[in-house]
Amino acid sequence: MINSLFGKDLTTVDSLTSADLELIWTKSGEMQEIVNRKKSDNRLQGKITAMLFFEPSTRTFSSFLTAVQRLGGGSLPFNGMKNTSVEKGESFEHTIRVFSVYADCLIIRHPEIGYPARAAALTDNPVINAGDGAGEHPSQAVFDTYTILKRFPEKKELTVTLAGDLKYGRTVHSLSKLLLKCGRKITFNLVSPLMLSMPSQITEALERNSSVRRTDQLKEAVNGSDVIYMTRVQKERFNDPDEYEKLKSFYRLNKSLLTGANKEVIIMHPLPIAAGEISPEMDNDPRSLYLNEQLKNGLSVRMALLDLILNP
Ligand code: CP
Repeated sequence: MINSLFGKDLTTVDSLTSADLELIWTKSGEMQEIVNRKKSDNRLQGKITAMLFFEPSTRTFSSFLTAVQRLGGGSLPFNGMKNTSVEKGESFEHTIRVFSVYADCLIIRHPEIGYPARAAALTDNPVINAGDGAGEHPSQAVFDTYTILKRFPEKKELTVTLAGDLKYGRTVHSLSKLLLKCGRKITFNLVSPLMLSMPSQITEALERNSSVRRTDQLKEAVNGSDVIYMTRVQKERFNDPDEYEKLKSFYRLNKSLLTGANKEVIIMHPLPIAAGEISPEMDNDPRSLYLNEQLKNGLSVRMALLDLILNP
């Protein structure tokens, strides 16, 4: 099979085709053996990845780092740019050009929308967007989609509830767009307070290619959903702290709310859970995937992406 991802950037899910996704699913399946048995490989030997995280991260940073290390590659890991010359005022452009000389691939998280794409224009090395402000989080969306498709391999029609901060939540921006490319008929329940609605250009794209229902009531959307994808209200994107305080605990998913839900429903969250949007009583519930399956798939998909992007 031709590797259409070799040498490519992943700054938005818009660039991914259905054929790319098939390639990623196949490669992720291969990687699962390594993830499940905590084994290693040497397919990234001699490749160096610069991880430039201008904004905090636990999972994205650590899972990309783990992925590189399990595959025998090297890394320049910066979880925050403290102790780099960014602190002395070095520009984003110069920082990217410098790391482009040292590394084969740049994985960039930035608080501003569009910075990974800006980096991609400055370097010939592939750039992976690890989250750009309230923009996108493509690698998260790839493994979230993988998780959903693996759970429902035969279901041609899926009802997916996206709930919480749909305005600033970059994971749901990427996930909703990517689900349109996976060959299933999707019904989206977009659940948010009015002030945290999905950006109109994304909603319009969803409406053109799927069924969309909008509500601010989570209970209304739960029954009949195959997937309930909760998100954190993104405190760091608010200018007004009082507004955040009013909205942060708008939803709380718990066992009681799930009375009447589909037997096979899955609960997902990109994490962190920061304001009780999923009750701790759900953490060990078999329907919850956010502390197990979703994380494991994150690792195997990121290993697959690195292998595909860095090896012909
Ligand atoms: N899901 C996610 O992006 O988590 P981190 O912010 O911890 O990387």
